[in-house]
Amino acid sequence: MPALFVTGTGTDIGKTYVTCALIRALKARGATVDAFKPVVSGFDPTDAAGSDPARLAAALGDPGGVFRIAPRRYRAPLSPNIAARLEGQTLSLDDMVIDAMARAAEIRDGLLLVEGAGGVMSPLTDTATNLDMIARLGAPVLLVAGSHLGTISHVLTALVALRAAKAQVAGVVMSESLDAPDLVQTAQALTPFLEGTPLFTAPRAEAWDAAGLADHLLATVGKP
Ligand SMILES: Nc1ncnc2c1ncn2[C@@H]1O[C@H](COP(=O)(O)OP(=O)(O)OP(=O)(O)O)[C@@H](O)[C@H]1O
Ligand SMILES: [Mg+2]
Repeated sequence: MPALFVTGTGTDIGKTYVTCALIRALKARGATVDAFKPVVSGFDPTDAAGSDPARLAAALGDPGGVFRIAPRRYRAPLSPNIAARLEGQTLSLDDMVIDAMARAAEIRDGLLLVEGAGGVMSPLTDTATNLDMIARLGAPVLLVAGSHLGTISHVLTALVALRAAKAQVAGVVMSESLDAPDLVQTAQALTPFLEGTPLFTAPRAEAWDAAGLADHLLATVGKP
């Protein structure tokens, strides 16, 4: 399936930032690329511009694509299952998996980037985490982490969980956190523990050039 699941070591860590950079870089290489957010919480329909689906839509060059990218949108800035329940709905993993597979099936010669909610084992529904969705999709995974003190433990515990679920980890991106130790030094300290999983660094910038990551992914999980 031509899909890549973008997950993180936690919430607010840089998943959307990295996914938008990846969309731009894949498009620049002539690849077909689309984005899907199975569920988004903290979504204010009267102020949607900074939301994940709006940022993904802008990167895709499809500003009207917000509803298509994220069919399940809830107002409360809480775990998706709790935010949905506050609006009288119960989220279903089956529905999210079916949607993602249908969207991926539409892609020829490219990638559907699926941005999860929160971190690897953050709940998506009352009984399923992002890791369950990754396992059901059987899609390769890109793990996004920060560069703050403590990130190495977060990355390695996330990788243990992903490998236990037999997920293929295509790479790790360390997205520079604010007020963090030196990015390159932190990345170098992490590398010996990664057992060969490629590591990319996204320095603090307006818009990261993800050329190297795009080339790696096209060579390993998708074709232009
Ligand atoms: N390397 C970076 N350079 C500049 N800004 C960054 C970088 N990484 C993250 N940010 C910024 O940090 C904030 C949080 O990042 P982002 O929204 O991508 O996180 P997320 O993991 O997608 O969060 P969520 O869990 O809400 O989906 C955003 O304002 C984003 O633009
Ligand atoms: Mg996000």
